[in-house]
Amino acid sequence: MENRVFRSVTLPAYAKVNLTLDVLGKRPDGYHDLRMVMQSVSLADIIAVTEQSGEKIAVRCDRADLPSGPTNIAWRAADAFFAATGVPRHGLDIAIEKHIPAQAGMGGGSADGGAVLRVLRDWYAPSMPDAALARIGATAGSDVPFCVLGGAALAEGRGEVLTPLPALPDCVILLCKPDFGLSTPALFRRVDDVSPLERPDNAAMAGALRRRDLAAVAENLRNVFEEALTEEERREIEGIKTTMLRGGALNAAMTGSGPTVFGLYADLSAARAAEEVLRRRYDQVFLAGPQSAPPS
Ligand code: C5P
Repeated sequence: MENRVFRSVTLPAYAKVNLTLDVLGKRPDGYHDLRMVMQSVSLADIIAVTEQSGEKIAVRCDRADLPSGPTNIAWRAADAFFAATGVPRHGLDIAIEKHIPAQAGMGGGSADGGAVLRVLRDWYAPSMPDAALARIGATAGSDVPFCVLGGAALAEGRGEVLTPLPALPDCVILLCKPDFGLSTPALFRRVDDVSPLERPDNAAMAGALRRRDLAAVAENLRNVFEEALTEEERREIEGIKTTMLRGGALNAAMTGSGPTVFGLYADLSAARAAEEVLRRRYDQVFLAGPQSAPPS
């Protein structure tokens, strides 16, 4: 009779925002080369990973509209881990409590994948460096490598070539997701037709983080996907930004392929007041802060 102790762990999977996002061009493999600075934020899903007998990976999510099988990034990440490491497959139950809005530009699915990889590394391959784990993550999704590392990083290539940066200095990040969705592949197609793009200055953003200069970070927020919005989408995004700026945000921008807008605040009470105003109109409004990288 099998007499095994099954391990279980519960951990947060942090969302991200794009402090910058530049699309450099389309690649022969259909993806786009990107250059962007990403920052983890304290808004998180809660992931419970439990060993079970057999070899099946089961993903359960408290939101019925999100996938539970191989189309879930957490499932793909676990599958990729066993395939890449040669570690004998273990049965896993992965329960996801969703707090990060889906299809919001906040890397919600990728965050779950990154968290699962960190658990599997701890259990089955503790000496594996972050960089190797991040490479495995790239097969599950372009933003997963960043989510494995967390903190702040310059991401290039498809998003998997990472240069860690110091995390944002202490501030408040107000997030607001408008009620429409934006399809990431569709937005990439649209951005292919926009020229010339007003590009972010990634070197200036990296410098601002290194100097811990919040004002310079705010000044350099820029996302080229904002140029690929329809008039109607743009009105909504600009409306949220205006509310944030009038409420004392240092600056505001869309994150990832949207449509979530985030504002950076030096002052919690100003952010709270703007949150209250936005809540009158939007259901998905969150106060968060910068999240630093977990110890590796
Ligand atoms: O890698 P991931 O599955 O997250 O990508 C989702 C979609 O976003 C891809 O199918 C592709 O259309 C687009 N994408 C891209 N270039 C990237 C990342 C994603 O064109 N660097």
